[in-house]
Amino acid sequence: KQVFNIGLLGLGTVGSGVYKILTTNAEDLAQRAGAALRVAAVAVRDKEKKRLVDVPEELLTTDAFKVATDPGIDILVEVMGGIEGTKDLLLTALKSGKSVVTANKDLIAEHGEELFAVAKENGCDLLFEASVGGGIPIIRPLKQCLAGNRITQVMGIINGTTNFMLTRMTQTGATFEEALKEAQELGYAEADPTSDVKGYDAARKMAILASLAFNSRVTFSDVDVEGIDHISDRDIAYARDLGYTIKLLGVAEEETDGEIGVCVYPALVPNEHPLASVNGAYNAIFVRGDAIGEAMFLGLGAGQMPTASAVTGDIVEAVRNLLSGANGSLISTCYHNKKIKDTLEAKRQ
Ligand code: NDP
Ligand code: HSE
Repeated sequence: KQVFNIGLLGLGTVGSGVYKILTTNAEDLAQRAGAALRVAAVAVRDKEKKRLVDVPEELLTTDAFKVATDPGIDILVEVMGGIEGTKDLLLTALKSGKSVVTANKDLIAEHGEELFAVAKENGCDLLFEASVGGGIPIIRPLKQCLAGNRITQVMGIINGTTNFMLTRMTQTGATFEEALKEAQELGYAEADPTSDVKGYDAARKMAILASLAFNSRVTFSDVDVEGIDHISDRDIAYARDLGYTIKLLGVAEEETDGEIGVCVYPALVPNEHPLASVNGAYNAIFVRGDAIGEAMFLGLGAGQMPTASAVTGDIVEAVRNLLSGANGSLISTCYHNKKIKDTLEAKRQ
């Protein structure tokens, strides 16, 4: 096959970035993938809306189901968000043998198990590099490059919106509301930013990372979460006076008793710690393993082009796998049943 057809669900912040990369870097992508990539359909809610990118009108449709079930589509790229309805679309696509690429951490964190099982049954790729850390490669490194390690900790800043907000509040004295508005305008925040500021987005990402790192099954409800919604200007000022910076951290670790603890909370980070100088929409993730020691992954954790970079990387991978017949080969449903710590309180005792 010389041309692979892509169905894009969503043409918002991330979708328009994906379309831009697929059209602007088409030649390089074709060389890397081994075949040309063609956007065959794009699902949106409102066809009349002004877009961040020019897309031929005939590609646009408001019928996401039609795109997900179109037999001419080889790879379905889901960048529209949502959980239940979106899950059904992806299950339908996988059952009809399509490779699926998604940036949807909510869906992977909550329904990953079911989706991966169906992908495996049908020999399909289900790739989700963009679901954690925006443009930072972290999913594939955990799944593949670090597979030789016994990982003991994954820790860091994994929400761009809140890191951007805390940076603005610390460096420019912006109020919480001003900083959030700016993050929304820059395309970093979720459709409902409550999920960013209350730490739910970070918790879902930690659930995904912990599942991969500990070969376990960690879901959103296993994560102890505290967001930044109660952080005031005074907290920021006190932290600064004492030589600390407030950062929303995610921590997942396997403890000596073998239990896994996963939490998200605003922490006082000493100014001399590398995480204190990770600013704006940057994310940084430390992985500790018995062989590698400590590795740090740093980059833009949200926004149009960084996220689209991760999505298009997955699209290229999906095409290569379709060409070599290796699709579905990286999906593992063999989890250990490790015990997850119940509460943050229990973890702190
Ligand atoms: P946007 O809100 O900017 O875009 C969503 C797009 O999906 C819009 O084009 C919208 O159409 C379309 N859409 C939504 N529901 C439907 C539907 N039922 N049928 C057809 N089209 C639909 O979101 P983002 O691009 O910011 O995020 C998309 C996904 O990527 C989310 O899962 C998000 O969590 C994830 N993500 C986002 C990152 C970011 O930095 N923004 C980073 C990493 C992941 P219309 O435009 O007509 O309204
Ligand atoms: N809202 C998310 C964030 C997008 O700010 O990190 C990237 O996943």
